[in-house]
Amino acid sequence: MNGTMRIAPSLLSADFARLGEEVTAVIAAGADLIHFDVMDNHYVPNLTVGPLVCQAIKPYCHRETKVGEKTDVLIDVHLMVKPVDALIPMFAQAGAGIISFHPEASEHIDRTLQLIQSFGIKAGLVLNPATPLHCLDHVMDRLDLILLMSVNPGFGGQSFIESTLPKIEAVRKRIEATGRDIWLEVDGGVKADNAQRVGGAGADTLVAGSAVFTGGRYAQAIDAIRTNALAGRNMQRQE
Ligand code: DX5
Ligand code: ZN
Repeated sequence: MNGTMRIAPSLLSADFARLGEEVTAVIAAGADLIHFDVMDNHYVPNLTVGPLVCQAIKPYCHRETKVGEKTDVLIDVHLMVKPVDALIPMFAQAGAGIISFHPEASEHIDRTLQLIQSFGIKAGLVLNPATPLHCLDHVMDRLDLILLMSVNPGFGGQSFIESTLPKIEAVRKRIEATGRDIWLEVDGGVKADNAQRVGGAGADTLVAGSAVFTGGRYAQAIDAIRTNALAGRNMQRQE
């Protein structure tokens, strides 16, 4: 985990009339990834955005280094759609850097993971609060990312479900047993006041929608979440 605590603001809580500016603003405020929630009003009871919008924000997804070079900020596409396979090439071509999907939404999970990786991008599996961890049993060697939902997917601004914490710990152990660099992302209700527990449980990538965009102080919100999450991790290590 080497001291990294990635923060991925979810655009679901951004101002959709000014998405490009919002992306630029959260990157300037310290965002490491741009979390892009795709909902189909079928797998989840809400409808959001598709590849066209992903493509539209792509030119804004970079940061400038101190020596004036541009580096990409990955678009972290979270597919809450069923079925998933047909949309994957479209999002890959629209500039996604990571695509994750829910196991219930694919008839052939291993095939879907391979399809994502065939575009040279990271592939992740998303587990809902009640989805058991055995879904991971036979795909650990293929995964680049595991995303644990800490709310039921579909809406921003919901409350963090506490039973996610032991799940994060259990997945962290599984990741360590592989020796591979699999990112462990947590999504839903993450805020400065629970980030310490989420970081302490073993997450290295935190999605935050309402906590970043509500109030308009993006840098302050991102810093607070990251600082608390890192403090949680450090406390855990000292025990
Ligand atoms: C929920 C989405 C989340 C959501 C998070 O289905 O997957 O990414 O935008 O929003 P907050 O941080 O407000 O719970
Ligand atoms: Zn999400």
